[in-house]
Amino acid sequence: MITQELKDRLIADYPKFEDMTHKFYKKEMSIADYKGQSGTYGSYAERGANSGMSRWRFNGGRMTRQHMQFLADAIRKYNLQHVHFTTGQCLQMHGLDGDTILNLYKECYDHGIYNRGAGGDNPNVVASILRGIDPRETLDITPYATAISEFLLEQMFYIKIPRKFKMGIDNGFDSTPHATFKDLGFNLTKHNTFDVYACGGIGPNPRIGIPVAHDVAPEDVLYHVKAMLMVFANHGNFKNRGKARTRYMPAEMGGAEAFIKTYEETLAMVKEVEQLTINPADYAYEITKTGKRDDSVENDRIHRQKQEGLYYVEYHPAGGDANVEHLLAALDYAVTLDQVEARIAPDQALFFINLTADEARKIAELTDDSAKNDFRRSVSCVGSTVCQIGMQDSNGLLKDIFKHLEEKGVDTSKLPRLHISGCPHSCGTHQIGEIGFHGAVKLVDKKPTVAFILVDGGSEHMGSENFGKMAGNIVATKIPEFLEALANILNQSPEPDFGSWRMTHKAEYMELIKAFE
Ligand code: HEM
Ligand code: SF4
Repeated sequence: MITQELKDRLIADYPKFEDMTHKFYKKEMSIADYKGQSGTYGSYAERGANSGMSRWRFNGGRMTRQHMQFLADAIRKYNLQHVHFTTGQCLQMHGLDGDTILNLYKECYDHGIYNRGAGGDNPNVVASILRGIDPRETLDITPYATAISEFLLEQMFYIKIPRKFKMGIDNGFDSTPHATFKDLGFNLTKHNTFDVYACGGIGPNPRIGIPVAHDVAPEDVLYHVKAMLMVFANHGNFKNRGKARTRYMPAEMGGAEAFIKTYEETLAMVKEVEQLTINPADYAYEITKTGKRDDSVENDRIHRQKQEGLYYVEYHPAGGDANVEHLLAALDYAVTLDQVEARIAPDQALFFINLTADEARKIAELTDDSAKNDFRRSVSCVGSTVCQIGMQDSNGLLKDIFKHLEEKGVDTSKLPRLHISGCPHSCGTHQIGEIGFHGAVKLVDKKPTVAFILVDGGSEHMGSENFGKMAGNIVATKIPEFLEALANILNQSPEPDFGSWRMTHKAEYMELIKAFE
């Protein structure tokens, strides 16, 4: 629970952040020093070191009506022009000066948005976006996701871990929290219990999580969180940041079995000495609103909730960057509605939930720049125009691809979702895309040229998780044409989508890639 004591703690070291931010933007502090410290406050400097970003963390991506009102007010007050929905279910505002970053940090705090620990080596959790509203779900995981989120806020002050620690918790139907390949993940089973996976993750040395526990009672998840944090604190690599993530730990501990043994021993000890059983009623909230059922409203973006007559609307702008005018219009309308919520989805979208059919129609209309098929739901990291360590402009590539295909009038309905990262770090999750790209350089006529490595055959879907393999290196300017050619082939083939076509046309696909290399 977020007690007053915890709240006080979450703001207590703000003066440190203020001091370093003033120094950095006055050029009295180095880029490296600031980068190492500012992340803890949810902020990083951007390329050029004259601007920075402000990351706002919401519990499982959940924005209440009050949060939405505050967001709309802040967009207007500070003229925020670059609002990004992140795969970590955060909001990220880019292109800010130091004073704006500091003001937003304090104002967020005053509105119950706690950004302490929203970056840096602090633990974070991503939760299924449709929790509590999915007609298929058998258990609402909201209380457990919320309990974990709040527990992490508190634990970050007590346990020092070597590096980032990303967690995921899902409702058994939705792969986007990546529970099976996070530092720690909870995957809901058919029996309304959780299977637990540890030491997974994408980026360098990608790993699928090791199953460490089956059929865990939902009330007991915090014991696992605490145990894993302790194992990481005791056995993680504090000396070499490049090898500090949990996915390196089992090998360093003598293998998966040795790791599991330590995990189980630590878990037993935590269970003995701590009282961390969750009382779901402490975190649950009820949706009492209902509406008149009108399924004619359903389409690619609007879907039915399990609550009678309620619907949710997906707003997925290109690359997760909101059209600020549209977002404002939707927020202004949404805050007038009963029990409305917005949730940031781990695939860079914003969902408005608890809407009647008419309300859903209206929100969809106000945000009609949204993706309407999977290809337009492609994911990309922010890229090198903003990110200091990026190699190429991943976000720019995605937008160039969209523009080209639009101009050519190409039907993109059979193309898959792309996953694009500006460098091999995989913030754009290229390793788990059916088609992924990561920024690279290619020598063309002996000149280094902007290019992207094509990664083939990744999957984020539970049960068929796979990290893709490098299949080509294509100059950035040729990639839109490559996708045009691929779309044309798909549109002439009987297969319903890229995935099924690729299964039977592997050689043809590889030849196509080669033709553009
Ligand atoms: C200062 C440098 C970095 C910044 C500012 C940064 C920022 C981000 C952001 C904003 C996201 C969410 C993606 C989005 O929705 O836009 C992300 C995701 C991610 N980042 Fe980074 N990142 C940095 C460095 C790294 C490094 C060095 C690694 C790996 C060694 C890494 C690995 C990842 C991965 C794997 C994800 C995706 C997680 C998932 O969806 O499961 N990042 N990063
Ligand atoms: S993948 Fe590379 S370019 Fe993209 S945000 Fe991560 S570090 Fe930056």
